[in-house]
Amino acid sequence: MKETKIRSIDGTEKDIPVLKEAGRIIRAGGLVVFPTETVYGIGANGLDADACRSIYTAKGRPSDNPLILTVPGKEEAKAAASYVPALAEKLMDIFWPGPLTLVLPRKAVVPDAATGGLDTVALRCPAHAGCRAFLRAAAVPVAGPSANLSGRPSPTTAAEAARDMGGRVDMILDGGACDVGVESTIVEVLEDEVVILRPGAVTEEMLAAVTPRVTVDKTLITGTGVPKAPGMKYRHYAPNAPMQVFVGRTEAVAAAIERETLRLRKDGGRVGYLVSTETANLLRTVDAPTFVWGRHGDKKELARNLYTGLLFFDTAPADYILAEGVAAGDIGTAVMNRMKKAAAGAVVDV
Ligand code: TXA
Ligand code: MG
Repeated sequence: MKETKIRSIDGTEKDIPVLKEAGRIIRAGGLVVFPTETVYGIGANGLDADACRSIYTAKGRPSDNPLILTVPGKEEAKAAASYVPALAEKLMDIFWPGPLTLVLPRKAVVPDAATGGLDTVALRCPAHAGCRAFLRAAAVPVAGPSANLSGRPSPTTAAEAARDMGGRVDMILDGGACDVGVESTIVEVLEDEVVILRPGAVTEEMLAAVTPRVTVDKTLITGTGVPKAPGMKYRHYAPNAPMQVFVGRTEAVAAAIERETLRLRKDGGRVGYLVSTETANLLRTVDAPTFVWGRHGDKKELARNLYTGLLFFDTAPADYILAEGVAAGDIGTAVMNRMKKAAAGAVVDV
């Protein structure tokens, strides 16, 4: 067990001593949990193989699943990539800082321990002022996967990160609740083509406005085969109980949830709900622990609250989670990608 210091940062000068200390911890091979605009990350010196390996231990993560390198800007990204096509540079100019991660050929300075032995490296520059100040204080690329135990929902507050990572890291930087709520879009950038490996807040449409050739990793669409982002193959984002997701108009979702409630309760199962405000108002079932995760169809709000909603069932007494999904399109595509994994594929249109 490590002693974990928890320190708030607010983007003012008061942060300086805290960030200096966090930077020293990183350079000395330690672990620091840090905020980003998407979800909280667990950071280590991305050029130090031992430090990278300690991330895998802290998360209980399979070692073939590569880490993202988090950098404060374009120059630092270019220092880790052996080749940066003009298209990649353009994407950095347009979407950085922001929730877009670029997979590029790696330089030899990036250790195998960071890339899981791949010859590419994933690079991300977050749109969170406190995060970028931390990255500058670290002065090395920070290997930074999401700060959850492997397989669990990603944390979007420092308190949620502390639940999984308390005692496993040296410091947690509390920079407030994350704005986006689901992890960055990951793209592989080829000479004149962009392949989406994981959907996020930077959508296919936004990328298509920059380059005509945008494709989606086939395994994301079919749900079969080996995905190009190794992490996408694992059961992931899983809440503490099996989940079913219903997508449709509120009346149809509420009716489907009530039917399923009756069926599960007949065998003594305890159900819990993850639903929109509007659907919650239609449900007549009593005594089901309920997390209302936003207004029906408000995709941004639902994205922001998704993981806190899944983590609600860590303590709520439910054997089954009946959840309401959201339509695809915009960030809804990323939300449904995560929900489908969290529900082990149990998603139905009603
Ligand atoms: O928003 C985010 O990206 C968050 C915050 C903390 O920055 N980070 C994050 O990291 O989601 P992680 O490790 O939980 O997810 C990274 C994903 C994994 O699925 C991994 O397999 C994939 O990126 N990945 C990393 N390097 C890759 C590479 N060289 N090629 C393909 N996929 C890669
Ligand atoms: Mg993750």
